[in-house]
Amino acid sequence: MPYTNLLTKTESGILIITINRPDKLNALNTSTLSEIKDTMKDAYSNHEVKGIIITGAGEKAFVAGADITEFGGLTLEKAKNMSANGHEIFNLIENCPKPVIAAVNGFALGGGCELAMACHLRVASENSRFGQPEVNLGIIPGYGGTQRLIQLIGKTKALELLMTADMVKADEALQLGLVNYVVPQAQLIAKCLEILEKIKAKAPLAIGKIIECVNACFRDGVDGLEFEINAFGDCCNTEDFKEGADAFLNKRKADFKGK
Ligand code: COA
Repeated sequence: MPYTNLLTKTESGILIITINRPDKLNALNTSTLSEIKDTMKDAYSNHEVKGIIITGAGEKAFVAGADITEFGGLTLEKAKNMSANGHEIFNLIENCPKPVIAAVNGFALGGGCELAMACHLRVASENSRFGQPEVNLGIIPGYGGTQRLIQLIGKTKALELLMTADMVKADEALQLGLVNYVVPQAQLIAKCLEILEKIKAKAPLAIGKIIECVNACFRDGVDGLEFEINAFGDCCNTEDFKEGADAFLNKRKADFKGK
C-alpha cells in the first residue's frame, strides 16, 4: 500500500518501515501515526511478514518526537485522545506476535524514544541520541514513556532522564540496557536483519508466545507464571513442537511451518 509518510518494503519476509519526513526529523504527526497503525495491522495478518524493522529516513533522526506543530489548540479532551491513540498504536507494536526491531539511526526523542521502546529490540547507530524532553515543553511523555523507560532501565535512571530531559548517547544507552547493540550507521539495517534471520529460523508460534509471556510480566492483574504455564501448553500442542523435537532427535535442521 502506498503511504504519504512511510516507505515500506518486504524482502525475504522482513518488512522494513521507514518513517519518511526527514526535513521534520521524522516527527510523528497524526497521519504518520495513522499510517504506522495501518502498516502494523497489515503486518499482523500478512503471512509473508516474519519480522519487522522500524527506522527513520536520513542520517540524523530516527524520530524527533511527536509533531509539535500539532500541539496548538489541544483541549483536555483532545490531548487525552491524542495520548490514547498513541498508546493504541504503540501497544500494537509491543504486542505484535512477530519480532519488531527499532533501527535507531539518530535522534530518538519524546515519541521517538517511546516508539523505539515499544519495539521488542533496539539497535542504535553510533550517532543516536535518546531522551524524553517533554518537560521542556511543560508536558510529560504521552505514548508510554513513563512506563516503558522504567521497565527497560529501572526507576533510578528513568526518573532522572524524565525529570532532567537529558539526552543520552548511544554508548550510554547500551550501558543502561536501553538498546541491544550499537553499530556504525552503515551497518544498522544489516545488524537488524542478522538478528531477525536468527529469529526467523525458530518456531514462529513459540516466538509469538515468548513476546506474549514477556509482556504479561508488565500487565496489571496478570500472573505471569500462570500465563507461562498456559502458553507452554499451547506450544506443546503445535506441529512445530513435534517437528522441533523430531529434528533434534534425528540430528537434522527443523523446518518450522508456524502451525
Ligand atoms: N515536531 C515538529 N517539528 C520538528 C520536531 C518535532 N518534534 N523536531 C524537529 N522538528 C523540525 C524543526 O522544527 C525543523 O523544521 P524547520 O526546518 O521547518 O524549521 C526541522 O525539524 C529540523 O530541526 P532543527 O531543530 O532545525 O534541527 P537541530 O539539529 O537544530 O535540532 C533537535 C535537532 C532534535 C535537537 C531539535 O529539533 C529538537 O529539539 N526537536 C524537538 C525534540 C522534542 O522536544 N521532542 C519531543 C516532542 S513531545
